[in-house]
Amino acid sequence: MSDYKFTDHEYDVVVVGAGGAGLRATLGAAEGGLKTACISKVFPTRSHTVAAQGGISAALGNLGEDDWRWHMYDTVKGADWLGDQDAIEYLCKNSAKAVYELEHFGVPFSRTEDGKIYQRPFGGMTTEYGEGPPAQRTCAAADRTGHAILHTLYGKSISASADFFIEYFAIDLIMAPTGECVGVVALCMEDGSLHRFRSSQTILATGGYGRAYFSATSAHTCTGDGSAMVLRAGLPLQDMEFVQFHPTGIYGAGCLITEGSRGEGGYLVNSEGERFMERYAPKAKDLASRDVVSRAMTVEILEGRGVGPEKDHIFLHLDHIDPAILAERLPGISESAKVFAGVDVTKEPIPVLPTVHYNMGGIPTNYMGEVLNPTPEDEDNIVQGLMAVGESACASVHGANRLGSNSLIDLVVLGRAAAIRCTETVKTGIFDLEFPKDAGQNSIDRLDKFRNSNGSTPTSELRLSMQKAMQNNCAVFRTDEVLKEGRVLINKVFENMSDIGIKDKSLIWNSDLIETLEFDNMIVQAIATISGADERTESRGSHAREDFPDRNDEDWMKHTLAWVDEDGKVDISYRKVHDYTLSNDIAYIPPKERVY
Ligand code: FUM
Repeated sequence: MSDYKFTDHEYDVVVVGAGGAGLRATLGAAEGGLKTACISKVFPTRSHTVAAQGGISAALGNLGEDDWRWHMYDTVKGADWLGDQDAIEYLCKNSAKAVYELEHFGVPFSRTEDGKIYQRPFGGMTTEYGEGPPAQRTCAAADRTGHAILHTLYGKSISASADFFIEYFAIDLIMAPTGECVGVVALCMEDGSLHRFRSSQTILATGGYGRAYFSATSAHTCTGDGSAMVLRAGLPLQDMEFVQFHPTGIYGAGCLITEGSRGEGGYLVNSEGERFMERYAPKAKDLASRDVVSRAMTVEILEGRGVGPEKDHIFLHLDHIDPAILAERLPGISESAKVFAGVDVTKEPIPVLPTVHYNMGGIPTNYMGEVLNPTPEDEDNIVQGLMAVGESACASVHGANRLGSNSLIDLVVLGRAAAIRCTETVKTGIFDLEFPKDAGQNSIDRLDKFRNSNGSTPTSELRLSMQKAMQNNCAVFRTDEVLKEGRVLINKVFENMSDIGIKDKSLIWNSDLIETLEFDNMIVQAIATISGADERTESRGSHAREDFPDRNDEDWMKHTLAWVDEDGKVDISYRKVHDYTLSNDIAYIPPKERVY
């Protein structure tokens, strides 16, 4: 529509999203001398990283011997061998450096008696390549680690003179006709103005799309906006069928109770008072990896051993732990349990249920954050000008299942790597690529279509149908029948978007419009997720098929690539898993049976 006008900006680097990965990339690029902007739809310190509780993994060895190679082994095994081992090596090898940097930036980590960073056990983290006792590898700031990191990185980014565009909603990428990314369009939600950001590198750090599900630990803002922009640019998403359920969301409310609570000695029981994890994971027990614990809890409930009047959840006991320890190390979840479950953790168990928590899939990248558009000739073909980091990206360091506390370390190690790559590839003030004449027109068309939609179906109704279908038909356990039914339901929601109607036609703080754009972003990812799950006829990591209970390395040791077009049609293809490491410091870790 002709009455829309753009305000234009030029930056060497534009980061979309101000969570941990976005801020770490922003800080690194700005400190590297590049003119850097960060665009965020929420105030930076309200980004979802603020909700990360238990900690950030790094083999510092402060509370027992540790080695980044053991961390790598655990991560490869946790990923059920779907992770790219070059990327995992980079992650684990650089984790200690990244954590010490955070410490020097001022992150207020909890401390040991002798003043070192406090580290707690977390699920799937072991020593001696899985043969030794659990590792104390997860560095913590009580149970508010994400909060501490986010606030510190925001302050550092401001002092490095990065520019922030706060409460700007990114609508779409600006792509050159030749396929490179040259910037992004965003709407300033406060005054309704539209902005074109021209940049040499656009870094998407827009997080996951947990809110495609009905019950998630994710904030309502976790709508995967950048990943949907990538789909609309004709690029694929990778491994979308791998959705992590965190074992301990508060029953009913869905809020997170950190895995750190089991790291501090908490345990799960069924209606018979049994510590059932001893049966499912005799060695690691309650500290097995998340997919294993979530499945065990679901089996207990399905077999009638759930707790509560409807036998539909599980109890998490912390009431045997010294109240002083709970107050010092787990104050946040003690408060959440009180507020959202009415439970005093020093006296009663917390009612919990596996709840959607994290997306292993996302925008395919290499370990430096460069986005990949695999072709038959080059599976690692790079999209010039476009990078992705954090939960929006699939590097793939988490493969089919992420270990707890490997997300925060992914944010800072790979956010930092993306910034380093920018300083190597971007010449400040020089744009190598042409800015198209009609740059941003696709964003205007998209905005205008929804703004003027006059159908009879509110966005909230469609969103709820999508969330229910994903929750019921793409859950912890999956079957062909249930997934096929889910595909039909999700496609129906997509079709019904033709009848969408929004009441508020203004551009100023129009939450109806923004929620519609967010829903439009989520529905295509829901299509990619349930289609990938239906196609993958094996069980691996978080993807548990009752009809195909075993991992099948011969046919399925490969990444899924999914393209979703504007009619909601999905195309699936595959890409090799990187079965090599970055250096001779560690050899490729071959697949074996995954037991805890
Ligand atoms: O349980 C937790 O504190 C969550 C950590 C994570 O997802 O890495």
